[in-house]
Amino acid sequence: MFSRSLRVSSSLQGNLRNFGTTKQCNVKVAVAGASGGIGQPLSLLLKQNPLVTELSLYDIVNTPGVAADLSHINSPAKVKAYNGAEALKEAFSCAEVIIIPAGVPRKPGMTRDDLFNTNASIVRDLAVAAAEVAPKALIGIISNPVNSTVPIASEVFIKAGNYDPKRIFGVTTLDVVRANTFIAEAKNLDPIKTNVPVIGGHAGITIIPLISQATPKVSFPADQLKALTERIQEAGTEVVKAKAGTGSATLSMAFAGARFAISLIRGLRGESNVIECAYVRSDVTEAKYFSTPILLGPNGVEKNLGLGPLSDFEKELVKAAVPELKKNIEKGEKFVKG
Ligand code: NAD
Ligand code: LMR
Repeated sequence: MFSRSLRVSSSLQGNLRNFGTTKQCNVKVAVAGASGGIGQPLSLLLKQNPLVTELSLYDIVNTPGVAADLSHINSPAKVKAYNGAEALKEAFSCAEVIIIPAGVPRKPGMTRDDLFNTNASIVRDLAVAAAEVAPKALIGIISNPVNSTVPIASEVFIKAGNYDPKRIFGVTTLDVVRANTFIAEAKNLDPIKTNVPVIGGHAGITIIPLISQATPKVSFPADQLKALTERIQEAGTEVVKAKAGTGSATLSMAFAGARFAISLIRGLRGESNVIECAYVRSDVTEAKYFSTPILLGPNGVEKNLGLGPLSDFEKELVKAAVPELKKNIEKGEKFVKG
């Protein structure tokens, strides 16, 4: 049941997925890198969610075991394992949502950009398959360096002739989750009801928490604001150091990735007011890709909600981030264009 069956995907058999009008809910979610530190808990959280009806677990190793294990959970999603490169296209075939946490994580002393040499080709190859068999999927890229892997995936879709910038997202939700946690801790707020938009990219100074736009409204003296901002920017490194060579954030990322994937599905279903920050193709700044709050809908990006009013401190952060982002973006684009 969990092997790579030759089942013709139910979606290929003309299974209607007309979210806009009927809100019919057949949602195939594929996770690429499903056996990994993020992939396993992310798949668990997706299996738990009744909005997911089919969960396609792809990795180059170990998916039969992960799928067998998850399949015993009494929730609606049918779990299937796809192991090894030859199973990739079937894993992605006609998926509505593809989440990609495939690739190597950082070790202490590394930057996210140090992962480029390994992860760029992993993301490129996954994007090639997605462009062929699931060109309309909403794709969430977790693999680092996100600032470059999103341009890589986008260039692959451009080459394939079916690029839709509304459908490719860099997952920056963990930055928002962290900002919410740290600001709530500092002000003794309910972390569930705290919301801090985080814009820019997903590495160091490109991570820009907009604390001036937090809800509930908060304010801090300048030195504390700077310290909190830097903690949010370096939170990934905090985890990498604490894990001491065994990897980077996995559990909090799984939480954030599941939240983002479910928001994509809620948008697909036509729910109103589904908003997540995400790193998308953008004309909000001079950087071609930039994370901002995004209103999600049946086609992915419904509306880019832009920067909103920035404090002077935040304006300086954006100014510092844009040149760095442009460099990261160009590197990703060059990798595909050759
Ligand atoms: P991991 O090593 O535990 O898992 C990665 C998985 O990817 C492994 O199971 C591996 O077999 C699989 N894999 C490798 N090559 C593959 C391929 N070609 N196709 C499919 N699967 C493949 O790593 P992890 O801790 O899960 O982290 C994964 C990635 O996510 C890293 O690049 C990490 O930097 C990134 N990350 C991003 C964020 C974010 O906020 N966007 C947060 C945390 C981690
Ligand atoms: C994170 O922010 O936790 C991830 O990008 C992983 C990392 O390398 O820090």
